[in-house]
Amino acid sequence: MLFNEGKIGNIKLKNRFVMLPTVTNLSNSGFVSDRELEYYNRRSKDVSLVIVEASYVNKFGKFFANQLGIDDDDKVEGLKKLSDLLHKNDAKAGIQLAMHNPKYKPSDFTKGQIQDFVKDFAYAAVRAKNAGFDLIELHYAHGWFVNQFLSPDVNKRKDEYGGRLEGRSKFAVDILKEVKKHVPDLTVICRINASDFTDGGFSIEESIEFAKLLERYGADGLDVSAGVGSTSEYHISPMGIKDKPLLEFLKKIKENVNIPVIAANKLGFAGDWEEILNNNIADFVGIARGLI
Ligand SMILES: Cc1cc2nc3c(=O)[nH]c(=O)nc-3n(C[C@H](O)[C@H](O)[C@H](O)COP(=O)(O)O)c2cc1C
Repeated sequence: MLFNEGKIGNIKLKNRFVMLPTVTNLSNSGFVSDRELEYYNRRSKDVSLVIVEASYVNKFGKFFANQLGIDDDDKVEGLKKLSDLLHKNDAKAGIQLAMHNPKYKPSDFTKGQIQDFVKDFAYAAVRAKNAGFDLIELHYAHGWFVNQFLSPDVNKRKDEYGGRLEGRSKFAVDILKEVKKHVPDLTVICRINASDFTDGGFSIEESIEFAKLLERYGADGLDVSAGVGSTSEYHISPMGIKDKPLLEFLKKIKENVNIPVIAANKLGFAGDWEEILNNNIADFVGIARGLI
């Protein structure tokens, strides 16, 4: 199965290997650098899809010093070189759109500011399309900005962006809808947490409901991870954690949606990957550190 063709949204994939997003910190003030191009050149020759690292959609949401940006039209030219390089290596080009600013909590923002953030994601999606990308991934995981709105222990808003899951997921759903409106022909997937693994945080039960909601509003696929900043061992699991820690959670999500699902995090060896696909736990095998 690993070498069977696959499909996400409207893109055909030559096999079932996906390079997961990895912040490189190799950009030049947010612009694609030669070192960055070489990093991706060395890793894109065998996988069917590369999801380029978390790229900030606005300067407020830039987290790392040399993080890649997609916040302005002047970045498109460099990003086009990157998508061209991935295509030359026969991989489809994806890019993760992200915001992270842990100094703030969801309750710090006015409705107007939230609506502006939604637009920032949509404009970044248009830039991704103009730069030749085939797919965008919306970063809704790992305790980053949008995940904070989803988490009941972090989001204490009393208005329509807080409260029950429907309110906490409004920001994420609004982004998805606005992105789909701006780039209807671009494949859009969402990276979600199967669980925050915190007391009172976003749980697997809510994640299943959230996954169904994203499918209803047009997500073409899901990339399932877990954990927030304080529980990062669930998204970049170290040696002390047994292989495939998220598979049981992933299975529950996959059973509840019809869109393709990418597995992630310490997935073991080739035999394990084959099993994940054969047992219909996921449609794609996501790898980050194995490619680095
Ligand atoms: C150096 C590094 C950078 C990462 N950057 C991102 C990122 O930009 N966005 C994201 O969602 N996950 C990021 N991750 C998490 C990976 O995408 C992946 O989920 C995680 O490493 C588990 O997969 P693996 O066991 O194959 O490495 C990063 C991981 C590493 C090791």
